[in-house]
Amino acid sequence: MKGYRISALLVVILVGVLAVHAEESQNTTPPLGLPPLPVVHDNQQTAEKVALGEKLFNDKRFSSNGEVSCATCHDSKKAFTDSPLKTSEGINKLTGTRNAPTVINAIYFDKQFWDGRSPSLEDQALHPFINPVEQGLKNHQPILDIVRTDHEYVSAFKTVFGKSGDDITMTEVTKAIASFERTIVSGNSPFDRWYFGGEENALTEAQKKGFDLFVNKGRCVSCHVVEQTQALFTDNRFHNIGVGINDIQEKIPKLVGEFLHAKATLSEVDVKILSDKNTSELGRFAVTRNLDDLGSFKTPTLRNVAVTNPYMHDGSFISLNDVVVHYNNGGMPNVNFPVNDFLSGGVRPLKLTDEEISNLVSFMEALTSPEFESANENSDSKK
Ligand code: HEC
Ligand code: HEC
Repeated sequence: MKGYRISALLVVILVGVLAVHAEESQNTTPPLGLPPLPVVHDNQQTAEKVALGEKLFNDKRFSSNGEVSCATCHDSKKAFTDSPLKTSEGINKLTGTRNAPTVINAIYFDKQFWDGRSPSLEDQALHPFINPVEQGLKNHQPILDIVRTDHEYVSAFKTVFGKSGDDITMTEVTKAIASFERTIVSGNSPFDRWYFGGEENALTEAQKKGFDLFVNKGRCVSCHVVEQTQALFTDNRFHNIGVGINDIQEKIPKLVGEFLHAKATLSEVDVKILSDKNTSELGRFAVTRNLDDLGSFKTPTLRNVAVTNPYMHDGSFISLNDVVVHYNNGGMPNVNFPVNDFLSGGVRPLKLTDEEISNLVSFMEALTSPEFESANENSDSKK
């Protein structure tokens, strides 16, 4: 009898140990095709913190009209974007100047936003709440009022941070949101299963030819990086590839002058970028004030790109085909268009045939992770 009890106890302990182990490995082993998950030492992940972050991410009360949450523009059913919107819609259907990038794999981005003006997910999460065309709050106080009094939040903040009342600040709110975002990682696409997993039939012949073009003739890989054991499809850097800037060429000196004169604070920069189309086109320059960065934007990941149309910082390309045609023309509306002064040296006419263009598109359609396959009702591949 005693022996039975001890072994039953042992089984319980063993199962417990295995379960903890499984959870740990689930949290640290990335999906096929992705690098190890970066650990953020001053914001360690816990299951409770992630759950709290998810609740905050979805809470529409944190907007001036009670209708907009982070998830409005980063919808899990649309691969964490607001596809097919060209530029995002915030409170009262106000629109900004930029296309909502996905939050999937944002854990791996060195900087957040198209122009990299935010250094971390924690910092990034402060901005949409008080952006007049996004969640529209005057300041963060209404959020604090809710999380300090709503009984579910009160108990969650106590459990996760050991804090209550005025000790709860936006630091805790944004840490929780960032923790949730860091769990949104996704790989294991057909490309990953073929390239990293050795599954010969995971890609079609057209997709394999497309990959060859992506690496060689198209030189896409010089910015949308693929490495030996993993691929983020971004170099985490900023380039002017001739999107948007072509329309404001003559206005650049005036815009730059105005911008520098404004000597805006960071939050004003944020507002101006999302509310003024021309200022938005200055790109990374608005952050660094370095002329070399005029019209430069962050290289976006291409994972799940087939389900997140339209494309580019301004959503100006409807389909992947349009994107490849743009690159084929050397970053210009057509090959005879005058080249913009700040165009990246990496963008030159490619002389791809129609079949090659189509193969490149097919290749990008192989970058969709299984969990987002069904997000493609509006997608490029259905056109
Ligand atoms: C009204 C739509 C809207 C709402 C609401 C919104 N976002 Fe965004 N989000 C965007 C747009 C548009 C951008 C790109 C802006 C830019 O780069 O200037 C963006 C960028 C981001 C990025 C950067 C991704 C990258 O690749 O650089 C993250 C992370 C993000 N949002 C998370 C959030 C969080 C967290 C919330 C809630 C606190 C939120 N967003 C609310 C539209 C929205
Ligand atoms: C010089 C670096 C560079 C090269 C080379 C390059 N890209 Fe890009 N790519 C970028 C940048 C930067 C952006 C975002 C530009 C913007 O929004 O203004 C981008 C955007 C894209 C997008 C839109 C993604 C989205 O979510 O909006 C696709 C698709 C794309 N590139 C595919 C390709 C393909 C295919 C090639 C090769 C033919 C290629 N790129 C070559 C840097 C590059």
